[in-house]
Amino acid sequence: MPATATATHATDSSANLPPMLDGGVPLLGHALEMRKNPVELFQRGYDRHGSVYQLKLPRSPRTVAMIGPKAHEKFFRRRDDEVSMREVYALMTPIFGKGIAYDAPPEVMREQLGFFHEALRERRMRTYAQGFVEEAERYFDAIGDEAVVDLYEVGNELTIYTSSRSLLGKDFRDRLSGEFARVYYEMEAGLNVIAFIAPHLPLPSFRRRDRARERLYAMIKQITDQRRRENTTGEDFLQTLMDAKYKDGRPLSDDEITGLLLAIMFAGHHTSGVTFAWTGILLHQNPQYIEPLLDEQRAILGGRNEITLEDLHAMHKLECCVKETLRLYPPIIMLARKLLVDIECEGYRIPADTTIMASPAVAHRIPEVFPNPNRFEPERFGPERAEDKKHPMAWIAFGAGRHRCMGIVFAQLQLRAIWSHILRNFEVELLEPTYEPDYTRLLVGPRKPCRARLVRKKTKTTVAVG
Ligand code: HEM
Repeated sequence: MPATATATHATDSSANLPPMLDGGVPLLGHALEMRKNPVELFQRGYDRHGSVYQLKLPRSPRTVAMIGPKAHEKFFRRRDDEVSMREVYALMTPIFGKGIAYDAPPEVMREQLGFFHEALRERRMRTYAQGFVEEAERYFDAIGDEAVVDLYEVGNELTIYTSSRSLLGKDFRDRLSGEFARVYYEMEAGLNVIAFIAPHLPLPSFRRRDRARERLYAMIKQITDQRRRENTTGEDFLQTLMDAKYKDGRPLSDDEITGLLLAIMFAGHHTSGVTFAWTGILLHQNPQYIEPLLDEQRAILGGRNEITLEDLHAMHKLECCVKETLRLYPPIIMLARKLLVDIECEGYRIPADTTIMASPAVAHRIPEVFPNPNRFEPERFGPERAEDKKHPMAWIAFGAGRHRCMGIVFAQLQLRAIWSHILRNFEVELLEPTYEPDYTRLLVGPRKPCRARLVRKKTKTTVAVG
């Protein structure tokens, strides 16, 4: 259902604009409050004004928050000629490259996103799932019978292995993933608040970012050159991009291949890593869910010692736990677009050129939509309560509409493979008194330290892949 869009230009009239949230300071508006705790800021606005209100942020003539299922309909159901993501993701351009992903004109962006679809198709999932299971085994075999680990670190490390393997192939993972991880982190360290404002300033962190990008380009080109020279192929995302062609028959350049690989890596790595950590924290803060999860594992795997793609798909209880984790702690706490046309929302006029923002973190705790919103209750996604189905745009951890996450299945299977392994093989004891979100990061995970003790269970379940 397309939302009402009047394809006219903004007028200067302030008639019927959403209410302005109080507070803020001259020039910076609410930016300092947002930097300190964006969720608190969005929540304050929601408590005062409801779903639609204005904020003051630098570099945007107008910013409007749109929170809750009805406002989400207007936020997400927009065509690419009604909203632009280019300005919002400008800080990514030095990493992805010029003319790649959101920096490309809409029709090229659509084609490039289409290549992602191809790589994330069900037929590839079997190979990816095999990688998830094997990587989890390998990682946790290496920690011995007992270890104190940082769940945030484990999530990041393990998902860089699973991602580099799925994206660049097993050979690459075995030979180069150590260096890849190091250089990738160096590149990511260039993603900070300043990059939002001026991503090309001559700062040391930006120089390191650019050098890291060059090195990643060289590493990826080494594989593409080798595959072309030896006429070999891989079951990975790199191969999808090597085989892909634009509608006009043009193959992708090596720079485009690198940029798109980094884009999907960026989309899928930390998001899954922090969700891994939060899932472990919430499950073990609510241990009444562990036994039912183990029952599910026993029911699905029985006496078998192999996990198939179908088994991972069948882990519904675990799926609900991950979903509930993503409700309470969505790694992407806010989403933004630049409006290209005037729109109407909840009776207010929102003119073109406005930056519109949604906040999964606040929307997920609206009590009329998710009763007892601060409680971890995975059964709210089960058939009896089905709270997400009652309001189709209420649960938006993966976004919604045209630009909804393409990695939902990939992420869910990966998280299920890893937690299935841990639940069957380890007792987990949380070691911090509390676990709080760290809003200094672009993708919000638990603040470090985030330790847990893993103790191997006496009866080891060795699981191979089928
Ligand atoms: C728990 C893990 C993940 C979360 C919470 C997550 C969340 C999101 C969200 C909220 C968006 C929408 C962004 C927007 O509307 O501005 C998005 C888009 C996207 N995600 Fe994910 N994601 C996750 C994992 C992944 C993985 C594993 C992949 C790929 C392997 C992936 C690939 C993508 C892509 C390609 C898009 C862009 C879609 C488009 O613009 O059309 N994501 N994700």
